[in-house]
Amino acid sequence: MQQHAIPPLRPPDTALLAALRERLGEAAVLTGRDTDGYCEDWRGLYHGRAMAVVRPADTEAVADAVRLCVQHRVAIVPQGGNTSMVGGASPHEDGSEIVLSLSRLTRVRGIDAIDMTLSVEAGVTLKAAQDAAREAGCLLPLSISAEGSAQIGGVLATNAGGNNTVRYGNARELVLGIEAVLPNGSVLSGMRRLRKDNTGYALRHLLVGSEGTLGIITAAVLQLAPRPHSLEVALCGVASPEAALALFTEFRRRDPSAIQAYEFMSGTGMALVTGLIEGASLPLEGTAPHYVLVELASGRESAGLRELLEEVLAQALEDGSVLDAVVAESGVQRAAIWRLREEHSEAQKRAGASVKNDVSVPVSRVPELIARATEACAALMPGIRIAPFGHLGDGNIHFNLVQPEAMPREVFLARDHEIMDTVGAVVRALDGSFSAEHGVGRLKPYMMPDWRGGAELDTMRRIKQALDPLGLFNPGKLLP
Ligand code: FAD
Ligand code: MLT
Ligand code: ZN
Repeated sequence: MQQHAIPPLRPPDTALLAALRERLGEAAVLTGRDTDGYCEDWRGLYHGRAMAVVRPADTEAVADAVRLCVQHRVAIVPQGGNTSMVGGASPHEDGSEIVLSLSRLTRVRGIDAIDMTLSVEAGVTLKAAQDAAREAGCLLPLSISAEGSAQIGGVLATNAGGNNTVRYGNARELVLGIEAVLPNGSVLSGMRRLRKDNTGYALRHLLVGSEGTLGIITAAVLQLAPRPHSLEVALCGVASPEAALALFTEFRRRDPSAIQAYEFMSGTGMALVTGLIEGASLPLEGTAPHYVLVELASGRESAGLRELLEEVLAQALEDGSVLDAVVAESGVQRAAIWRLREEHSEAQKRAGASVKNDVSVPVSRVPELIARATEACAALMPGIRIAPFGHLGDGNIHFNLVQPEAMPREVFLARDHEIMDTVGAVVRALDGSFSAEHGVGRLKPYMMPDWRGGAELDTMRRIKQALDPLGLFNPGKLLP
């Protein structure tokens, strides 16, 4: 984290605040200390300040707030659950921006179990959207550890990935329709629930992953899936990342449709979870160098998943690639195993400062990524705690580094670019990406020219210029 001096606070635009209060109501415009919770990010990297936080209650109010801010030339930071890992929803430190929170847009507008679609507003949490789908007998197949806080708008604005991408794709793949307020204050009303709709540019896909720089998503239509009727979860201790990959390819070879999640965890990361998270314990005989969590699911009740799991694991235990394994016997045990995976980010946060590298490589190259990046980081900073984990089935590893125990937090974070660039060099050599699912946000725009320069970045800039000529939507994020 490069340290910068705190800039002086810009005086608030009192005329704008008065106009916003008149339109949205007194209680929907927060200032002063009431904005604190919206200005600090989940990782504690940014301590921004906002001129105000506005909390409109519906799409029209969002559009009016945008029009007022544009009239006054005040920039807007859209915010959902504020769980961004890259400072995407954090306002600048000079207090010149308005944070526009979508958290009051919480209506489930409709659900159709035959079409298998869910129409929800942006402020509905991912967890609440999953629950609504479940009540209708369907599955919203998007799952991330932050789902209790992350909101649909934020999940789409970042094109979130998560634990089920290996089977169902990223958030983008689930979006049939979208409603958004554009920087000119107009409302793009595309809440269609069609499986097929080739009518010009797919604007919904432009907005998905645009990180609040092109439009404010106010609602979306999501494609649901049938609920699985059988499910198996196992935790395995493995000797190496190569063994983890071999196990994945064996499951895929035996039944390509069975894998619903395939997650990798390092021994270092697991030790942080069991050491720092209350009630988290390893259900295996002993520790292992690495772990995988495999979840198999099927729409059929007697799909033979248990047999498949046991056969593949028995073979792997025999050839030594799997050192130990446990298969969950109940929902409680499944949840306990998943908790070991889901608490990785929280445990690392408790262990000190982290530098996170949300990288992807072709799945076949994950073992090489882990080996080479581990070697490079250990050489760069002795004592650094190397805790890679994540979505092995997608080739997306969170190559996270926790500060050496004795090193002050600020000293470690001051070297974040150096560490990210060290991992980045390995990722580049393996034809990967520096941003797999968390987005670019405020933390990584400096990497864009190097990784996405030339026509790619130039086209992104032209799109931004066309839609937001005044540069008022989330400035300083995504684009350098
Ligand atoms: P915010 O953090 O509020 O915003 C994120 C970005 O989207 C910002 O740029 C913001 O300006 C923009 N934005 C927010 N709402 C809107 C809107 N309505 N319209 C336009 N722009 C908007 N991510 C993954 O992909 N996979 C994971 O597995 C995963 N696991 C996580 C685990 C933990 C513990 C945490 C803390 C985060 C994790 N994340 C993960 C990152 C993050 O939660 C996701 O990116 C999430 O989708 C962000 O949702 P949010 O509502 O919190 O968005
Ligand atoms: C996760 O998959 O849990 C998050 O995306 C990871 C992180 O903390 O980097
Ligand atoms: Zn992840």
